[in-house]
Amino acid sequence: MAKIKTIGVLTSGGDAPGMNASIRAVTRSAIFNGFKVKGIYRGYRGLVENEIVDFEAQNVSNIIHHGGTILRTARCKEFKTEEGRQQAYDNMKKHGIDALVVIGGDGSLTGARQFASEFDVPIVGIPGTIDNDLYGTDHTIGYDTALNTIMWCVDRIRDTANSHERLFFIEVMGRNAGFLALNGAIAGGAEAAIIPEISIEHDQLAELIKSGFRKSKKSAIVLVAESPITGGAMGLAERVHNEFPQYDVRVTILGHLQRGGTPTAQDRILASRMGDAAIEALLEGQRNVMIGDDDEKMVYVPFSKAIKNEKDIDRHLLEVVHRLSI
Ligand code: ADP
Ligand code: F6P
Repeated sequence: MAKIKTIGVLTSGGDAPGMNASIRAVTRSAIFNGFKVKGIYRGYRGLVENEIVDFEAQNVSNIIHHGGTILRTARCKEFKTEEGRQQAYDNMKKHGIDALVVIGGDGSLTGARQFASEFDVPIVGIPGTIDNDLYGTDHTIGYDTALNTIMWCVDRIRDTANSHERLFFIEVMGRNAGFLALNGAIAGGAEAAIIPEISIEHDQLAELIKSGFRKSKKSAIVLVAESPITGGAMGLAERVHNEFPQYDVRVTILGHLQRGGTPTAQDRILASRMGDAAIEALLEGQRNVMIGDDDEKMVYVPFSKAIKNEKDIDRHLLEVVHRLSI
């Protein structure tokens, strides 16, 4: 394997709080270890369209506390084509980039894996997504901040739900995963969480109505994971409206506010450790691996495992929500 001299770093897919902390860690750790660093703007689009600049240690000053990503992010259709990836490779070579660090979610790492299968490029991935849906890592960067944001919102909705004695469906993000909904429900003291992992097997809404939500209270808060499988908050509210008209129902969709904001200490620490571990991985000759955290330790997870395997949700936590909502 040729010696790596220059490392390119990019953020791709949905942004997540803590991405900046990880750009900083990758850049500083790489420079500390004698590498040159290139910042690639707008994810894979920047590779395809040649938006690549030199990065010094100062380029990443004063960003650890900011949400979003200073490198911007994008979704890039061209990178899904062979011609697009060839163009990306040619631009990489023009800039002397020998290795890549890709910070992003499932889709971004799928792209990285495809690219690495066609060209001789060592790539290390860093899981950056609020969804927490990547296999092989206990947490993804941005998840903890999004969870705290959800909790903050639930606390506020609880006041009005309580005053009006209403049933609230609060929809949270997660693509097809229920981590934000389930742990958001525990942190917010909600009556229930409706998540896609379970909706396939049970009619969770019917079960909830049958059990009467919280018997000692007339208000209730239910966290719903966005997904065609759960029906989303609007879908569930519509059902309640038609099937159980005795409930006064309202819906709040938290949407993209979950993706912004100051990263929590936990996300900054995770992002910093993962960024540093990505450079260590390249120094060790690793390629095509994602950095994961396993019981507080940094581990290398082959792309094939991280992408192809579905991360299990702890179903026991649903019972906890149920028991604590009596
Ligand atoms: P996330 O990383 O947040 O899951 P996306 O699923 O939107 O975000 O993927 C981000 C980008 O990764 C896509 O816009 C595309 O450029 C690239 N990508 C995703 N899947 C593939 C693939 N199968 N082949 C090549 N590139 C891909
Ligand atoms: O993957 C992160 C995420 O925020 C998902 O939770 C959500 O389904 C999706 O991205 C929304 O994407 P967009 O940025 O296209 O609205």
